[in-house]
This record gives sequence, C-alpha cells and structure tokens, in this order.
Amino acid sequence: MDNLKVPRHIAIIMDGNGRWAKKFGLNRIYGHKNGVKSVREAVEFCGEKGVEFLTLYAFSTENWNRPSEEVNALMELLVDSIIKETPDLNKNNVRLNAIGNLHTFPENVCTKLNQAIVSTSNNTGLTLTLALAYGSRLEIVEAVKQIARKAAEKEIEPESINEKFFESYLATSGIPDPELIIRTSGEQRLSNFLLWQAAYSEFYFPTVLWPDFRKKNFEEALKEYQKRERRFGKTSEQLKQ
Ligand code: FPP
Repeated sequence: MDNLKVPRHIAIIMDGNGRWAKKFGLNRIYGHKNGVKSVREAVEFCGEKGVEFLTLYAFSTENWNRPSEEVNALMELLVDSIIKETPDLNKNNVRLNAIGNLHTFPENVCTKLNQAIVSTSNNTGLTLTLALAYGSRLEIVEAVKQIARKAAEKEIEPESINEKFFESYLATSGIPDPELIIRTSGEQRLSNFLLWQAAYSEFYFPTVLWPDFRKKNFEEALKEYQKRERRFGKTSEQLKQ
C-alpha cells in the first residue's frame, strides 16, 4: 500500500447495526454493542496508518426519534465505552473530541465524555471526533447565527466573510476536511453529515454492515481511495505539473 496517500481525515457513517442484529434474531442493541468492536479496530487502524483525524457519526439529531429503549441503551453503551476505552486512548496517544448538540444528552453522558476529553487532551496522535446529536444543517445555521450577530453588532463587515472565515464558525473548526467518507451497509447517502466539509471528499460505500467492518475492510477502503485521482476541478495534466 502507498503510505504517502493516506488521508489526513477519514469520516465514517457507521450504519447497519440494527440489520446485523436482526440477521441473528437479536435485539438491535446487540448490533450497537458489536459496533463498538469495529470502532476500536477503526481507531487502531487509523493510528497504525498515521491518519490524523477520524470522525465517527455515532448519533444523529434524527436518532432521538428511535424507541426510547434503544436511545437509552445507546446512551448507556456510550458512557460504558467511554469509561472503558479512555485508558487505551491514552496509551495509544489518541485525543478524544466531540461535535454536536451535546447539551441535549443526559448529564451523566456529558460529564463522562467531558472527563475523557480533558483526560486525553494532551495526546498528540490521532484525533477521534465523535459526532453526537450532530446534524450538519443545524451546525451551518448556528454558524450563520453567530456571524449575523457579529455583523449586527458591527464587529465584522459582511464583505469580509469568506469561506475560510465561515469555516471557523463550524463545529469542525481546526480539523481539515475529510478526504474520505465511508458509509457502511450499502446505503449511499450523507444523511446530514458534514455537508459543508464533504465538498471534495471521496465516498466509499461498502455493503458490509458496521459490526462486520474490521481492519481488513478498512484496508480495502484505503486501497480504493488510493486508486482514485483527486483533481479539485483541475485537469490530470495540471496535477502532474
Ligand atoms: C447505525 O446503525 C448506528 C447507530 C445509530 C449508532 C452507532 C453507535 C455505535 C457503533 C456504538 C457507540 C459508539 C461509540 C463511538 C462508542 P442502525 O441502527 O441505523 O442500523 P440499521 O440501519 O441496520 O437499522
């Protein structure tokens, strides 16, 4: 594999946990539990390959509409995983980060998450961002609101607003755009994930369900990415210059 073409940032929509559980006649939550194993492998894999940023869509704003037993079980799983995994995150030099409407989460989830974020904040390896109660349109609207307030208070000139300035108001400020976005389970949609940031991303849609997406599948994703030529609107000839 060509190590030079490893993306700096990979974002993943972890899909198919429910279907995985159904295949075995199990409750959906078993799918999520097995999904945590894939999360662990994804983090390890990115660390090994020298990926700098991994962003995981763990809970969307729309996921609040699921049956309350599933939402509660997911919250519990999240807290348990955070507590259990933090020592390993530290051992592997991983910095934990979160984006989304965290204030809509139960207090114990926020507290544990913030403790893990603080505990890993000095790590210098992979930055693992969990998108929790995250929705990209809302993220963009919130950025617009903040900028509009500044303009109304005459702190900024509307003419001075450019893409770079706008980006600095997004939740992902300071994180480069993902070069590769993976969605498992065969679905081929962004589902309100990183809409602005995905402007030039390569997409990869394996049919494998998230609990089955392990290192060998990630390796395949990376190989596929490396085959693609990223042109940013330029011609192949311009890129060779
Ligand atoms: C989508 O599958 C998955 C989720 C909504 C939750 C993802 C959460 C985890 C993998 C566990 C916790 C995460 C961390 C970071 C510790 P789905 O339920 O929509 O599956 P389906 O489409 O087959 O129904």
